[in-house]
Amino acid sequence: MKPGQRRKVVVGNWKMHTTAAEATQLAQGVVDGVGNEDGVSVILCPPFPYLALVGAILKRSRITLGAQNMYPEKKGAFTGEVSPTMLLDVGCKYVILGHSERRHKMGESDAFINQKVRFALASGLDVILCVGETLEQRKANQTEAMLDRQLNSGLADVPVADLPRISIAYEPVWAIGNADHHATPQQAEDAHAILRGRFSKLFGKEAAEAVTIQYGGSVEPDNAAAFLSRNGVDGALVGGASLKADELLAIVRAGINEGRVEMQPT
Ligand code: PGA
Repeated sequence: MKPGQRRKVVVGNWKMHTTAAEATQLAQGVVDGVGNEDGVSVILCPPFPYLALVGAILKRSRITLGAQNMYPEKKGAFTGEVSPTMLLDVGCKYVILGHSERRHKMGESDAFINQKVRFALASGLDVILCVGETLEQRKANQTEAMLDRQLNSGLADVPVADLPRISIAYEPVWAIGNADHHATPQQAEDAHAILRGRFSKLFGKEAAEAVTIQYGGSVEPDNAAAFLSRNGVDGALVGGASLKADELLAIVRAGINEGRVEMQPT
């Protein structure tokens, strides 16, 4: 499969931001701005309390709904947790798992993330699995080992038939929400190549060519094209800039433009 056959994807990860009124306005702004454009897949991931609200706004649009997390059980005595069944019930198609804020701030382990990945897939949610090294690991030349470990463990025992429902987000921890520490497009391209190589070892060349690998870490309107034009960078997972409709739309446009460039026969 040629790289151009992978469709670009732009995911807005709103994290723990917005009020109901802001969520409504933001979702509506993105819906209006994207219109009928289908050159890029756009996914919005609001906080749990606004999923249904945003889902209703996205209903007749080309934009899909995703959640930022879930608990790997169908139901039960798990105070404060949200099940994949509930997420599907409110219209989610995707769930972000293994985000660095969950790994590093909430202490989620590789094993727990793997449990979530398998449970999400079995429940019918598509998974965006985040991986990425810390600054200390990068400085110690451990980036490759770290990506290997997180991919291996995150995808352990995942049924091969479910691979088309998994995408990977490379998010170097040091570049997330950090205007002073941007990764360069070259660093992103290199890391994506490492991940695709590892994916190939795990699941074969064809699966590796098909898997979407998006970049995340301070993607903004000004640098989106530079990332999205890179070989093997199939999309963007956007935090801060996804909280302003015009900024997210500018990133979506960059994805559309770069997607078209890739599609052109060489
Ligand atoms: P950022 O967040 O764009 O604010 O760096 C990206 C993410 O954490 O998903």
